[in-house]
Amino acid sequence: MWGPTPEAVHRGLTSLRQLISTHLQDGTAVLPATRIADGPRFAWRGLSFDVVRTFHGPDEVRRVIDMLSLYKLNVLHLHLTDDQGWRFEVPSRPALTKAGAAGALGDRPGGFYPQAEVAELVAYAAERFVTVVPEIDMPGHTSAVFKAYPELAPAELRTIDFGNGTSIPLNALEPGRAETWTFVEDVLDAVVAQFPQSAYVHIGGDEAWGMSDEDHAAFVEKASALVRARGKRVVGWQEIARSAISSDDVVQYWISIDIDSMEPGNGPVPPEDLLPILVEHFQKAKTDAPKALAAGARLISSPTTWVYFDRPHGDSSSDPAQEEARKRLGLEFYGPATLRDGISWDPVGNTPGVTSADQLAGVEAAIWCETILSSDDLELLLLPRLPGLAEKAWAQQTSTEWTEYAGRLGRQSRAWQRRTWTWLRSVEVDWV
Ligand code: ACM
Repeated sequence: MWGPTPEAVHRGLTSLRQLISTHLQDGTAVLPATRIADGPRFAWRGLSFDVVRTFHGPDEVRRVIDMLSLYKLNVLHLHLTDDQGWRFEVPSRPALTKAGAAGALGDRPGGFYPQAEVAELVAYAAERFVTVVPEIDMPGHTSAVFKAYPELAPAELRTIDFGNGTSIPLNALEPGRAETWTFVEDVLDAVVAQFPQSAYVHIGGDEAWGMSDEDHAAFVEKASALVRARGKRVVGWQEIARSAISSDDVVQYWISIDIDSMEPGNGPVPPEDLLPILVEHFQKAKTDAPKALAAGARLISSPTTWVYFDRPHGDSSSDPAQEEARKRLGLEFYGPATLRDGISWDPVGNTPGVTSADQLAGVEAAIWCETILSSDDLELLLLPRLPGLAEKAWAQQTSTEWTEYAGRLGRQSRAWQRRTWTWLRSVEVDWV
């Protein structure tokens, strides 16, 4: 085994582990003589993991890191803050974890990662050549901040009611106020100290509902400058491309839903006052990726259509209990996706404005946890989808043939079984 870096040797050994586990028979693996000269198509191969809507403790996070490592994915993007909770310590802002971390979505239990736990997770990931990239979602998605520090909230709080006990807030951190920036600096100091191995800080930037374009851009530009001043590079969801970004920034494309082709009457109808906000957001989204490219920035491709793993499974399971779980897992709004859908795309071909692989930093899937109640639920949506992401992140070819891929996928289940990972027993795949 030879590789130019310790990471390369680690990846080679991972290939060997995969070969052994797919050739095991009665405790012995006889491997064919094979020569593998390999390297990834993309440098950034990630999973964005929402630990806010449902809090996942460190044991579960380690299981996810193990999954990433087995499939040679190298970024765990932790979505650490959102409306429903705040999940890491900011020593100068204790209320974030006292009040802000107390809950999750609905009446689910809250939680946060104390500094020592963050250090352990970061080290555990690093040993497996996975970088933990922290996301602080701002200026929207900040209800947990306002719960902890009401003085940072807009004078008049606004929400849109769904009528079923849930609502979405239209409140954001305000760029014109000095106290906003003292807060952001406190948070960034804590993030940079606790995630020293990450060259990036993800500043969110998505769905700042209710905020003017000017305020959003002003916020993103100042927050980005504060990240850069700390020696880190900026990553943000695609909406940050509506501000003056730098060519060093990385922009995460996600909105692949085409609002013009959405049929009325399909899926749940949003409240009347939300609809125009959504339509405007999706219309503007069409030019985000091309704008980022024009600014010389690279993109991470995370299209909702193919790599949002919180889409309901379109494949049925051979296991009746999983069929029950499948009915409640995933956001109905997105519609179901099959495993075959998950490999039926090309990161270059399916990212607007992108014509060559070097315009992409890489690819990243996302798992949002609104419908996820347990580690079993989480794993049932991650597997068997994650290897499909790895296929797109690693393989050089731009298309994947389903039958051949399904054959390879089916041989992975033994490794999952041994690790006690839950996966959807899709009837479309012959599991070994
Ligand atoms: C997102 O899904 N709001 C990035």
